[in-house]
Amino acid sequence: MKLANSTILITGGTSGIGMEFLQQLSKQGAAHIIITGRDNPKLEKVKQQFPDVYTVQSNVGNIREIEELYLDVTKKFPALNIIINNAGIMRNLNLQDTSIGLESITQEIDTNLSGTIRMVHRFLPHLKIQASAAIVNISSGLAFVPFPLSPVYSAAKAGVHAYTQVLRLQLKNTNVKVFEVAPPSTETPLQNAFSNIDMGSSSPMMKVDKMVSEAIRGILKDKAEILPGMSKALRFMGRIAPAFFMNFMHKMIEKAKKKSK
Ligand SMILES: NC(=O)c1ccc[n+]([C@@H]2O[C@H](COP(=O)([O-])OP(=O)(O)OC[C@H]3O[C@@H](n4cnc5c(N)ncnc54)[C@H](OP(=O)(O)O)[C@@H]3O)[C@@H](O)[C@H]2O)c1
Repeated sequence: MKLANSTILITGGTSGIGMEFLQQLSKQGAAHIIITGRDNPKLEKVKQQFPDVYTVQSNVGNIREIEELYLDVTKKFPALNIIINNAGIMRNLNLQDTSIGLESITQEIDTNLSGTIRMVHRFLPHLKIQASAAIVNISSGLAFVPFPLSPVYSAAKAGVHAYTQVLRLQLKNTNVKVFEVAPPSTETPLQNAFSNIDMGSSSPMMKVDKMVSEAIRGILKDKAEILPGMSKALRFMGRIAPAFFMNFMHKMIEKAKKKSK
């Protein structure tokens, strides 16, 4: 997939992987880059650093805001031809904690999975009229082996993986290419919720610039499923011994929790 001269929308472009995509895609010669996020001050900060970027405050968990984003962006950037569904949240959730409300318990599904599906559904007609277009969905290595501390996140990412496989199949004879990037554990603010659990060398983190450069290399080579760093091993483990690896991680977490007490 050619990236130079493309017009690219990145959801969640104010931090971590999304912001790194913004930086590296600018260097690849993208014509226009549009980023979204919920937090206005964070959007302003990115705008100061990258004056050419177009920023929109938009929550992928909100249907009305997706509709407004679609109308605004397709009017201002009719050549929009790539969307990167990157916006995501990840929480440390104890399923026995009954104080968590019914609204809150599915937050990762609403943002990471429903947000991705709704963005694709809304923007697909526009992408289909472009000469060449792409959808890039950011899943996770945890789509293949669930992480014991993040059950709803893992379920959402497994959902993104399954959805993306079928999306690719159904768009096979169209001009829209479908990519999945499944990052391994990567150094970004998303990891802050887990900073009190030191799993040492059993959980090495990938540098965000390296992760995104592998993702971009894969997209340029038309690699449909991009599995940087440990994600390839996670997919393999998920196929041959999913319970074994999940239990191993659970034991490591319990040990780390005891050590930090
Ligand atoms: N870091 C990792 O280890 C890792 C591993 C595998 C997969 N991933 C995936 O990579 C993607 C990016 O994560 P990251 O590590 O870069 O996290 P991050 O640094 O926390 O960035 C997340 C971005 O998403 C935005 N966002 C969150 N909820 C949103 C919503 N409802 N609507 C619009 N924007 C929203 C955030 O901005 P606001 O808060 O202002 O909205 C921020 O710009 C996520 O899908 C994540 O699941 C990350």
